[in-house]
Amino acid sequence: MRRRLVAGNWKMHGSLAANEALLAALKSRLRQVDGVDCAVCVPFPYLNQVAGLLSGTHIAWGAQTLSEHDAGAHTGEVSGAMLREFGCRYVIVGHSERRSLHGETDQQVAAKFMAAQRWGLVPILCVGETLEQRERGDTQEVVGRQFEAVLNAAGIAGFASAALAYEPVWAIGTGRTATPAQAQEMHEFLRALAAKRDRGIAQELAILYGGSVKPGNAKELFTRADVDGGLIGGASLVADDFVAICEAAS
Ligand code: 13P
Repeated sequence: MRRRLVAGNWKMHGSLAANEALLAALKSRLRQVDGVDCAVCVPFPYLNQVAGLLSGTHIAWGAQTLSEHDAGAHTGEVSGAMLREFGCRYVIVGHSERRSLHGETDQQVAAKFMAAQRWGLVPILCVGETLEQRERGDTQEVVGRQFEAVLNAAGIAGFASAALAYEPVWAIGTGRTATPAQAQEMHEFLRALAAKRDRGIAQELAILYGGSVKPGNAKELFTRADVDGGLIGGASLVADDFVAICEAAS
């Protein structure tokens, strides 16, 4: 059985006090379940706090992006080596907000993916189409191109220790979730692309769904054959909701 993963993406939210309260609630209520990994991906300044509060628990943590460079004159950037020092297990790469608001290209996303792996971090590669692209009928082409750019650069072997997240842009923060059938169709498509290169790795690859996952829709999404968990934005900031979503993955 493939391992499942539910990761919270806090985006640019949090404060020392709010994080402490949220993590205390998760620590007391998030049960460890066989075969399901849970994690929170937090803003850089909070990594030290989160590492202190979560070390020794079953909840892992990570960051939301990293530099493709390991060190040097890159003002404002954060390297994989630094994330490693703060105990990160995961790092999100290629989130649609990074692609659209910060101009990250497929090539840069691939370089970030490989930088994460150089430092022993598990990249969570995000792919997804806009509403306009879906309505034009370009969904598979767009999402396929985003995934292939990283496959071509990192090789299928890179996906033996990575996760993939299908996040349709039109479903992020909109309350409009992909239907379980739409999610399954895309996850199946992505797994088939991976399987063309290596069936074994494709079978083991965790493919997460992200975009308005809530306690009320998590179970029906996660019971689809190729949906192996979720990447959770807004609901990961509410302890009750995140606990319920993690439970829905078990
Ligand atoms: P929401 O769950 O808030 O829609 O965000 C999804 C997301 O972008 C997670 O990375």
